[in-house]
Amino acid sequence: MNDQFAQDVIKGLSDTPKQLPSKYFYDEKGDKLFQKIMALDEYYLTNSEYEILDTYKSQLLSLFGSDVGKFNLVEFGAGDGYKTKVLLKHFLEKEARFKYVPIDISGNVLNILENSLKKELPDLKVEGIENDYFRALQQLENNGTRNVVLFLGSNIGNFTGDQAFNFLKGLYDGLHRGDMVMIGFDLKKDPSVILKAYDDSEGVTRAFNFNLLDRINKELGANFDLDKFRHFPSYNPQTGTTESYLISTERQQVELQGQVIDFDPWESIHMEISQKYGMRDVSNLALQAGFTIAQNFYDKNSYYVDSVWRK
Ligand code: AVI
Repeated sequence: MNDQFAQDVIKGLSDTPKQLPSKYFYDEKGDKLFQKIMALDEYYLTNSEYEILDTYKSQLLSLFGSDVGKFNLVEFGAGDGYKTKVLLKHFLEKEARFKYVPIDISGNVLNILENSLKKELPDLKVEGIENDYFRALQQLENNGTRNVVLFLGSNIGNFTGDQAFNFLKGLYDGLHRGDMVMIGFDLKKDPSVILKAYDDSEGVTRAFNFNLLDRINKELGANFDLDKFRHFPSYNPQTGTTESYLISTERQQVELQGQVIDFDPWESIHMEISQKYGMRDVSNLALQAGFTIAQNFYDKNSYYVDSVWRK
């Protein structure tokens, strides 16, 4: 892991323009900072999606169980399950015939989730799979039980356009006819609302970005001076792309595993993409990947959509 991390970091900082892969935000401290971001009012995404799941939980149950009755509720990147628990609780109350299958590459994340579910929802059938998403799909039984794959939290937005398409195509190929997916997309809206979500007044998002430089210092023995960088988020209303950068405030050199990285004054490191979508973009993605759209569920502000598709 550390070798791959070192290679990716050195490659990213040697690229023009410089970039770092956002998947490396999530070490132990990064996980905690992301939890803090999700609890911020300015980070409206959490409340919007929670509202959708809570408002439409019974419609979702009818949709997921339609024709077949029995289904596997599969979740990619479940995290602490805060939002999904709304559905799980309701489905149990309604005595739905389903099993919850959280998938995560980290056994530790799965253990924590499974323990908390055991306490809160002891009757829930849980079968976590520790693997990457697509390999885990191959492990799912194919005995006529519908798989419903949840990919919530606007995680799709951290992919570039090509990556998102390839991911959805791979998902389509890994599913069986009649299976479903529900994907959370953050929608285009007033740019000032979006910018605040990525530049919160408490500085948590800033700390989340800086934590990656700190991680590189600690794990790869680099000597980034954090005081010589600035956090800069941007939003392009035409493309819908939110991007975060860390910008070097002066000419400087950083050493990393025997390599010297030169920074010009005001040179940037691209840290993350958080894509915002129009509904036409959502439909096009579904259709291009091969799915048909079953139903779209919006929050009351229309900030966010959970879009349910069928193979
Ligand atoms: C995980 N992902 C959907 C978050 C987002 O909104 O792009 C990560 C994040 N980055 C800054 N704030 C939140």
